[in-house]
Amino acid sequence: VVVTDRAVADLHLPTLMDGLAQTAISAESIIIPGGEASKNLDTYMDVVDQLLEARVERRTTVIALGGGVVGDLAGFAAATTLRGLPFVQIPTTLLSQVDSSVGGKTGVNTRRGKNLVGAFYQPRMVLADTGTLATLPPRELGAGYAEIVKAGLIGDAAFFAWCEQHGQRVIAGDREAQAEAIRRACAFKAQVVGDDEREEKPNDGRALLNLGHTFGHALEAEYGYDGGLLHGEGVAVGLGLAFRLSARLGLCPQADAERVIAHVSAAGMPADLSMLNRRFSAETLVAHMRRDKKMRDGALHFVLAHGIGQAFTSADVPQEAVLDLLRDEGCAP
Ligand SMILES: NC(=O)c1ccc[n+]([C@@H]2O[C@H](COP(=O)([O-])OP(=O)(O)OC[C@H]3O[C@@H](n4cnc5c(N)ncnc54)[C@H](O)[C@@H]3O)[C@@H](O)[C@H]2O)c1
Ligand SMILES: [Zn+2]
Repeated sequence: VVVTDRAVADLHLPTLMDGLAQTAISAESIIIPGGEASKNLDTYMDVVDQLLEARVERRTTVIALGGGVVGDLAGFAAATTLRGLPFVQIPTTLLSQVDSSVGGKTGVNTRRGKNLVGAFYQPRMVLADTGTLATLPPRELGAGYAEIVKAGLIGDAAFFAWCEQHGQRVIAGDREAQAEAIRRACAFKAQVVGDDEREEKPNDGRALLNLGHTFGHALEAEYGYDGGLLHGEGVAVGLGLAFRLSARLGLCPQADAERVIAHVSAAGMPADLSMLNRRFSAETLVAHMRRDKKMRDGALHFVLAHGIGQAFTSADVPQEAVLDLLRDEGCAP
């Protein structure tokens, strides 16, 4: 059973259904409305009901065809229907090809926040077809590219240098460059996840994948998930801020921070707060960070860096340093 959203169904579902028919695999489809608003328990129940109506058996494979919303939701439905159906991801956004389809996190949002109900459930296969990216809006492409850059910044300086050289080709739709970027970003994520599948290591492992995300999530919360700021755009700004914070704390060369910001903006993404169309209060952003589920014991946890490709987690970032940074970046007190 293929689960997809309306927009992806119109663009790419017939190709997949034809392909399955040619290999004599019988398949039906379930189409959900697109967008983050669908990633909730109501839509999840709709999908489960439709899977059961389709008389799925333990061997029936669920295929997620779409972006991270479809992948997270269909993956959670696959993990839970009949206590687990085989699951395949066919991600169609750059973000889902390099990030959400790899690692086995599935789930939905609740009124209390994002991704609060879910399961670790690994797909049997992830099939990233760069051909689907041709129909993706440029803004969505940029948002996915931020997570690619993030991989290099966390632990692979050579890959970041590759991005500086070839990133424009990825954004411009060069399929060879896209395939190389996706391959390297997935290999990086798979290695991190393989080491810490269930996010149990407090300091390294999966926690490092949150580079740029503490700032990014705070910005997303301020925008209210209304499409004004895509997740990857929040991350893009967050990468620059995480490096500037690291430099400010004397942990990382300032030149590295400026190199990050130069590349992010050259790739056409917002690279600091002045590039966003709203203004923020430093106190409000820090309040969001305190509510972030990654915060423990009231201390401000951040992923910082000693330099490009050298990220580490820190559990004791002084709140004043974060507030000072945000004020210097143009936030109101
Ligand atoms: N599971 C994880 O580890 C993980 C990691 C990162 C993000 N996520 C989740 O992923 C979600 C974001 O994923 P996303 O950025 O892919 O968003 P998305 O799934 O909402 O897709 C973005 C938009 O692009 C459209 N679209 C998808 N493929 C297309 C194509 N080929 N051509 C044209 N339009 C297309 C969709 O209909 C949608 O409107 C969030 O819910 C986030 O929480 C999960
Ligand atoms: Zn992310």
